[in-house]
Amino acid sequence: MTRGARLVVLGKQGAGKGTQCVRLSHYLAVPHISTGDMLRAAVKAGTEFGQLAKAYMDRGELIPDDVILGIVEDRLAEPDATRGFLLDGFPRTTVQAKALDEMVGPKAIDLALDLEVPTELVLQRLSSRRVCSTCGANYSLEVPPKLNWTCDLCGGEVVQRPDDTESAIRRRLDLYEESTAPLLEFYSDRNLLSVVDGVGTPDEVMERLVEVVDRARTSAG
Ligand code: AP5
Ligand code: MG
Repeated sequence: MTRGARLVVLGKQGAGKGTQCVRLSHYLAVPHISTGDMLRAAVKAGTEFGQLAKAYMDRGELIPDDVILGIVEDRLAEPDATRGFLLDGFPRTTVQAKALDEMVGPKAIDLALDLEVPTELVLQRLSSRRVCSTCGANYSLEVPPKLNWTCDLCGGEVVQRPDDTESAIRRRLDLYEESTAPLLEFYSDRNLLSVVDGVGTPDEVMERLVEVVDRARTSAG
């Protein structure tokens, strides 16, 4: 991993991918590329594409592969991604994982991290999650913003994500088992998978991730 890390972060919905990728992208000095965040930005911009995406997302369905692949390919072509990247929420299907190999080359991914969190705990985390409607910062009922549900970072309104309803959460977790869990084997077959325990405080989980990433960097020379 000498040229800058190229990482994929896997894990169930609510495993803490977004929370940890924000920190890890600073640590590694590579962009945090979240397909979910990109889609939410399109929804917010009110584009025709955003309206279409919202219909899928609010129901907890996946956006069709060809659409997501176009978005990711464009993003990876931006200059900052030549330094490396941290992919959060992509790939999510085998079709996407194979297409990623084609985009960057099969040997270009350095590491796939799987944040392991039991389903009961992700259900708890998702139902208590609150997000800033302006900048997307993450909060929860347990760790709310300091003042009146306004974002500590930008002052935006902190709300519940539209896809954090009971039925959408159920659908997202079913789709994870069906479409995304097979990627664990996809990456372990390539000797790229590291499973990291995602239970504990965000600081504890971050420490584990840094340890795994540093080990991979040292062994890659
Ligand atoms: P996306 O935005 O990626 O959502 P997701 O996959 O459902 O995952 P989440 O963001 O819910 O979970 P997370 O692991 O990031 O957890 P977080 O850090 O927030 O995708 C949304 C939708 O977009 C999809 O459903 C689909 O429609 C579409 N989409 C996106 N990518 C796609 C793709 N590639 N193909 C097709 N469609 C795509 O943490 C959760 C909560 O837990 C927070 O409140 C947080 O504060 C808290 N928390 C985190 N860590 C801890 C901890 N250690 N202890 C206690 N609480 C914690
Ligand atoms: Mg997320």
